[in-house]
Amino acid sequence: MKSIYIGLIGFGTVGAGVVKTLQMNGDIIAKRVGAEIRFKRIADLDLGRDRGVQVDRSILTTNAEEILNDPDINIVLELMGGYHPAREFILKGIENGKNIVTANKALLAKHGDEIFAAVEKKGVCIGFEASVGGGIPVIRAIKEGFAGDEILSIRGIVNGTANFILSKMSDEGRDFKAALKEAQRLGYAEADPTFDIEGHDSAHKIAILAMLAFGTEIPIDKVYMEGISRITSEDIAFARQLGYRIKLLAIAKGCGDSLDIRVHPTMVQASNPIANVNGATNAIEIHGRAVGAALLVGEGAGALPTSSAVLGDVIEIARGILCGAKNRLPARSWLRENIQKIPIRPMDEVESECYLRFKALDKPGVLSKISGILGSHNISISSVIQKERHKGSGVPVVMTTHSAVEKNIRKALEEIDKLDIIQKETFSLRLEDGK
Ligand code: HSE
Repeated sequence: MKSIYIGLIGFGTVGAGVVKTLQMNGDIIAKRVGAEIRFKRIADLDLGRDRGVQVDRSILTTNAEEILNDPDINIVLELMGGYHPAREFILKGIENGKNIVTANKALLAKHGDEIFAAVEKKGVCIGFEASVGGGIPVIRAIKEGFAGDEILSIRGIVNGTANFILSKMSDEGRDFKAALKEAQRLGYAEADPTFDIEGHDSAHKIAILAMLAFGTEIPIDKVYMEGISRITSEDIAFARQLGYRIKLLAIAKGCGDSLDIRVHPTMVQASNPIANVNGATNAIEIHGRAVGAALLVGEGAGALPTSSAVLGDVIEIARGILCGAKNRLPARSWLRENIQKIPIRPMDEVESECYLRFKALDKPGVLSKISGILGSHNISISSVIQKERHKGSGVPVVMTTHSAVEKNIRKALEEIDKLDIIQKETFSLRLEDGK
């Protein structure tokens, strides 16, 4: 049987997962591909650590160049993460004619244009299924399964850590800090959780999905991002009372000549399947003109689910090599000459229904003052909740609005927060209507 040789750069959790899954499934993979997929070299700076997998020590090296310059290696797996030297390794691999498989969403979101241009120029392949949604084959779904349809929107829970925290807050009534601590204890959240909880990771992932779905370059710094750290257990309870759940959603919607792309905590109707995706699970809803809404749900992280996505890419590339059709699929799903620079819709212009939580003094005229200012900014109220009075302290007053323009909401809240009856900065969340 023929062999396809792969080299792995980065023998961490995911790298060890790929080794393990290939050992576990090597036979069935060979039966499907018609060739054996074999590790020729594995590079990592730390060769001493026990990864819980058996490898022939003679293939281990601390020098990634031994992979990038090895003429036998067809596919380079970059699973080290980070920007540098991952970017340089990938570019050098491409230059040397290697096909690339990576899980590095941060790198693709920031340097994707450069990397894809190099891939397209050299005529090699790049697989990045593992960069979004862990084991969920969402990239393959967009590039192939939905290729015949016009994608109208993508909405997803693409960060398991944030979803775990919000689920703990919702199911067990914990506050944000306690839920984060639990996520850290269980190894979902990093010691510095900023990337996951403030939306960066979700922004990288939605930028990659939007690039594929809409055929456009996405400047990552233009993706609006808001995290979950200001959500209180009170908001979770109010959301529940109103028939919603709070989820950190990554959203990309085509809006005529522009693209609405953003990440923020969102109130999702409890009846929507996404609202019921809990724990560290990911879910991505793709809405196409012909297909309607399709929901992909599964493990968004973890060594084995991610290794499944990595090996899916390796197999796709190996099959191409074996039948001499290496570039069956454009790297970005669209032909290079058709990739656009669709303008990102400024956040000020985005329209959505809103949840507003005011902390106000409980005295006559408060509601009329707040609603007067909202009305003067063309914001129409759809519901109001005022909880019982707490002596001496303000009461939370919650309103939901009909669809309103973001700029108007912001201006109205600036005005309302200056009122002497308002005790604290007003907190707002956007609602998603499922369209
Ligand atoms: N840190 C990510 C998450 C997993 O919490 O979903 C890797 O993409």
